[in-house]
This record gives sequence, structure tokens and C-alpha cells, in this order.
Amino acid sequence: MEPTLGRVLVVVPTYNERENLLAITARVRAAVPRAHVLIADDNSPDGTGALADALAAKDDHVHVLHRPGKDGLGAAYIAGFRWGLREGYDVLVELDADGSHRPEELPGLLRALAGGADLVIGSRWVPGGRVVDWPGSREFLSRGANVYARMMLGVPVRDATAGFRAYRSSTLEKIGLDDVESQGYCFQVDLTLRTVRQGLRVVEVPITFVERAAGASKMSAGVVAEALWRVTRWGLSGLPRRLGRSR
Ligand code: GDD
Ligand code: MN
Repeated sequence: MEPTLGRVLVVVPTYNERENLLAITARVRAAVPRAHVLIADDNSPDGTGALADALAAKDDHVHVLHRPGKDGLGAAYIAGFRWGLREGYDVLVELDADGSHRPEELPGLLRALAGGADLVIGSRWVPGGRVVDWPGSREFLSRGANVYARMMLGVPVRDATAGFRAYRSSTLEKIGLDDVESQGYCFQVDLTLRTVRQGLRVVEVPITFVERAAGASKMSAGVVAEALWRVTRWGLSGLPRRLGRSR
């Protein structure tokens, strides 16, 4: 791995991922042995938190952040990022617990970060990127969400909703986490937009996204509704700026 990057923390948000946690942690540890892992668990009823504690007790590169209850993917990541910034990590990675993001592809993301990016997105929708076993309805939703986000926000990114990413700590410090309101998956679009608006460099690296084998997605109508109204609001509030630029 690139020694120039400094200390790497992989934040893994979990809600009922007991069946997946052991395998994903082992794969991250094997793929990038010097990276640390922070499991951000929302008091999962299935006992994911206790399993996370057991993993942390056996491995000093594994840490656990216990949160009181299910509060959304975005909120879990913000808490995890704050923990990582406080502990002095230089790179903060986002990775799902269910195996959809392959840890074996993380070195490629980190290489792109070391190459000068401020944010690297593991992208399904650039040439070379693909999805395996994803239901057609989810692909439609993801592609549609990306078209809408690009149209409303003008972000030059093909996969703005992607959840496999690597941020420099300096990027998170510059964009500011204090006023992030996005609770669910639109958090991904939110931070992409903030990064682009800061004039920072976003690089997309193609990945293969594999549908989870065990457990269930936490995607819901509420998650979609939040994304829709927030993206619309961000788009409308940024409109004067975009019109001014094109004149
Ligand atoms: N702590 C916590 N709290 N974790 C959560 C919550 C929550 O409220 N909601 C979801 N997670 C965790 C899951 O346990 C999993 O590890 C990860 O976040 C992703 O959740 P999934 O439910 O598996 O997401 P998905 O497969 O439907 O969606 C994926 O694609 C989206 C875009 O297409 C994810 O990669 C999303 O991040 C991405 O936006
Ligand atoms: Mn998933």
C-alpha cells in the first residue's frame, strides 16, 4: 500500500449484519493489513455489536463504535468519521458490511488517492465498473438517482450514490461535517456535492458491486424519499449559482 497516505481507517456501518461481519472484517484485514477497521453499529437486535466487540478483543486493528439505535447510514458514517478524525487517521474509507464492496479492490482506491485525488469513489457506472446479481429494480433506481443528481446538481460524477469510497481527512475537514443533515443514503450525494463545491479533486475508479448473499438491505421508501427531496432542494438552491456561471 502507499506509505505516503499515512494511517487508514475503514469505517463499516452495521445494522443486523451478524452473518457478514466476520468475513468482511477478515477480508479487509487481509487486503490492507495496516489499515484499521471501525465497526459503527446501531445497537443491532441480532447481536452484531457483541460480535464486533469479540473481534476487537482479538485484534488491535479493530475498533467498535456503539450507537444507541438505528439512526441511518449517514449518521453512522458521520459519527465514525468524527471518531477517526479525533484519533488522527489520515484516510477514512467507507465500506458496506455485506460484501457488496470487495475489500480486495481497496488497494486500487487507495492508489488513486495517493495519486492526488481528494476523494476516490468506487464506481459502478464508469467503463469497467459493473454489478453482479443486483435486482433490475435496484439498478434502475441507482441509475435514475444518478441521472437526477447529475441533472439537478451538475456534479461531474457517474456514481454519486456509491458507498465504497476513500476520503483524505483533509477533505472531510474542508467540507465540514457539522451541518450535514442527510441521515440515509443521500449522505453519499451530499458529501460528493460538498467535495465538488470545494473545488476538490474527485476520481472514480471502476469496481464490481456484488449483491449481498446474506441478510437484508436496509433500503426503504423513507430512504428514497429523503434523497429525492434533499437533492431537489440542493438543486434549486444552487440554481442561481449555476445560471450565473453559464452566463
Ligand atoms: N449503523 C448503521 N445504521 N448501519 C446501517 C444503517 C443504519 O441505519 N443502514 C444501513 N446500514 C449499513 C448496512 O448494515 C450495510 O453494512 C451498509 O450500511 C449498506 O446498507 P445496505 O442496506 O446493504 O445498502 P444497499 O446494498 O441497499 O445500498 C448500497 O448501495 C447504495 C447506492 O446504490 C450501499 O452501498 C449504499 O451506501 C449506497 O448508497
Ligand atoms: Mn447492501
